[in-house]
Amino acid sequence: MCIIIGKETQCHASCLTCSENSYCGNPYACTNCHPGDYKISPNFSDPNFKCSKECNGDPLQQGEYYYCDEHVEFSVTGIDTDVTTIKPSLLTYIPQIFKKLEMITNVDHFEKGEEIGGGTFSVGNLRGKPVAIKIARDEGRKSIHKELQIYDKVKHSNILPALGVHLGVDNMLFLTLRNFNLKDYFIDYGNKLDFRQLKQYCIQVADAMKYLHHKNILHCDLKIDNILVKDEDGEEIEISDFGCAIDLDLDHCNKFIGTQTHTAYEILKYRQNQSILTAASKASDVWSFAVTAWQILQKSYQLPSDFIKPEDIVRNYEAGKKLPIPATVAEDFWRYIILPCFDLHPKARPTMEDLHKSLIIKAIVAKLRAYFVFKTLSFQLTVNI
Ligand SMILES: Nc1ncnc2c1ncn2[C@@H]1O[C@H](COP(=O)(O)OP(=O)(O)O)[C@@H](O)[C@H]1O
Ligand SMILES: [Mg+2]
Repeated sequence: MCIIIGKETQCHASCLTCSENSYCGNPYACTNCHPGDYKISPNFSDPNFKCSKECNGDPLQQGEYYYCDEHVEFSVTGIDTDVTTIKPSLLTYIPQIFKKLEMITNVDHFEKGEEIGGGTFSVGNLRGKPVAIKIARDEGRKSIHKELQIYDKVKHSNILPALGVHLGVDNMLFLTLRNFNLKDYFIDYGNKLDFRQLKQYCIQVADAMKYLHHKNILHCDLKIDNILVKDEDGEEIEISDFGCAIDLDLDHCNKFIGTQTHTAYEILKYRQNQSILTAASKASDVWSFAVTAWQILQKSYQLPSDFIKPEDIVRNYEAGKKLPIPATVAEDFWRYIILPCFDLHPKARPTMEDLHKSLIIKAIVAKLRAYFVFKTLSFQLTVNI
């Protein structure tokens, strides 16, 4: 298996996949195996890709790549991609990853349906294909420029794909149409979702956030209203709404303007006494992630009444009072993975990479535990019979 660590690729010592006729499935395919050139896998978008002939585990998707559970500890060390390290001529093989958003300049190419959400959103079509259209007028126009800037840089299986942008009388962003945001999905289908699925949602959000942070992008408005359900079965979700996002490489103002209930302690605190402007950071996104994880695990949009007003939130956290553990969650999961995200000192919080790794390892351990319990029970059953 080829492992990507930072921007380097290394070949796993026992790599069997990178042979003459079968590549390892990522655009950085190992240069050790194919000296002098980078290879693009013909299996790159093949969801059945297996990482090595050595292991027959199910493929597990992380970002753009597929690995099997057995090798997950290698693969979680970093999957960031940097286009500049791939020969430009090879980029044509993976246009879907790095293509910039289309500027739609012909108004005959799209049709707007009825406007909802106070005229900020409509279901319509783009060249005959159903799409969601985000419409921005007046003050809101700026947010579409921001979303364009971010969408030009990102592509991830847990980030809603944007299809194009129109900058005219109204500014419009064309997005892949989905049926639900997570807030509404919980209302309609919450009771069919078990802890395993909710944990998968947390892993998917963590994976997308880790990817954004690798690209030096802060989301700054993570909450369940900004997470959409991707498929009919409700197994996959996607982060959306980059109207408040910050590109640390390009933006000169890092002011956090997201939702109060999800705002990190240090930002709320210094908003209160106005003396120091506390900028948004990866750590403030980690705080918002933890509040969002609470909403996911609780299957609830509604936060406890004493965690809504900024002054209550600040007072609670200073006194050591945190959001209550959601009913269905194992105590050590909450205590060791989520609670550290609420540390008052941003530097003491885990990174999105740490969180993603901890969540995945927890999920694998749970799977193994279930497997051994099953094996033991079936053994006992056989002995009894
Ligand atoms: N691609 C989409 N498909 C279906 N509904 C969407 C889509 N994008 C957004 N929505 C709906 O519109 C709401 C507002 O969109 P969002 O991008 O969050 O804009 P805002 O900046 O107004 O919060 C979302 O909570 C969701 O219910
Ligand atoms: Mg929103």
